[in-house]
Amino acid sequence: MADELGVTLQSGTRIPDAYYMLSDAQLDERIRAAKAKLGEQVVLLGHHYQGARVIQWADFTGDSFRLARLALTRSNAKYIVFCGVHFMAETADVLSPEETVVILPDLGAGCSMADMANERQVDDCWSELAERLPGSKIIPITYMNSTAALKAFCGENDGAVCTSSNAEGILKWAFERGDKILFFPDQHLGRNTGYKMGIPLEQMVIYNPLFGDFECTDEELKNAKIILWKGFCSVHQKFTVEQEEEVRRLYPDMKIIVHPECSLEVVLGADYVGSTEHIIKVIEESPAGSQWAIGTEINLIHRLAEEHKDKLIVSLSGPNVCPCATMYRISPQHLCWALEQLAAGTVVNHVQVDRETRKWAGVALERMLAIAK
Ligand code: 13P
Ligand code: SF4
Repeated sequence: MADELGVTLQSGTRIPDAYYMLSDAQLDERIRAAKAKLGEQVVLLGHHYQGARVIQWADFTGDSFRLARLALTRSNAKYIVFCGVHFMAETADVLSPEETVVILPDLGAGCSMADMANERQVDDCWSELAERLPGSKIIPITYMNSTAALKAFCGENDGAVCTSSNAEGILKWAFERGDKILFFPDQHLGRNTGYKMGIPLEQMVIYNPLFGDFECTDEELKNAKIILWKGFCSVHQKFTVEQEEEVRRLYPDMKIIVHPECSLEVVLGADYVGSTEHIIKVIEESPAGSQWAIGTEINLIHRLAEEHKDKLIVSLSGPNVCPCATMYRISPQHLCWALEQLAAGTVVNHVQVDRETRKWAGVALERMLAIAK
């Protein structure tokens, strides 16, 4: 179902009320039992933003790049139960063998940023670019946070996928093949990466999918190196320069690390920037007693604070925490239900990409995997 803005509305998965009556201990016991019954038939992949009560069951955890690689290398299992969001489960389906079944415990676990670009909008933008920039070779690059259909669009049009951990390498690859990049759906990752590569801000223009138009003059479009889709992450957009100034004022020894989905101003005000996996690595390698303000989803920050009690770890946004509402939809109750159904022989919430989309999305993803290694 799509609303008037073209955003796909995916309703959540209703599970029997009885699951909500269970205590934490009962849920844990039943998840453990179902997982044990399934044994090696099932592998649980968990994104770093999952809450502690879910991530404890993951066989492997990662950022979206690592999870994509795991889907490729760990897919000897018959079932992948994906504790993350819909685009990640689709990616796992595309990269794993055709017979591997990917399950998302709550189909309502989407990504509001991924919903900011759909096929019709990208097709419209692409046609508009062909008309306005005749003779120009434009390479489409989609952030991993997008539907399989958009990854397929990139596969079919000489483009690729990127994640927050490999965006620079993918953009370099794209500039070797074309003179401009169309980057969707996250304007911030695109701008932050372009800026780091030395592309002047005036050569990064905006395409607004809601109005179907470029927010620049014809001349600016002609001179542009990157055309940025006007999408954003509602979680990361909440971090501000004022919060960074407050941290600097109150805690002069505190370091700031943020995800590249934050705005350019916030990224420039931080000490470090990187994917969720990178953030974890930097914190792990930091000395005892160090102090950190982190600009990313709150579940990961809580976990890092819990695991590194010898360090002071807080959210950059202070008490105004930024949860990813859709990641939260993978509740212990949904996980328990999906595993118990599977253990009883019923596949629920199968995420399956159609054959044609799978083929071309696979091309775009494999290009990324080959470039990023
Ligand atoms: P990572 O690839 O860094 O885990 O990011 C995924 C994501 O959705 C961040 O909002
Ligand atoms: Fe999407 Fe933002 Fe949630 Fe990441 S944190 S899954 S980009 S809404």
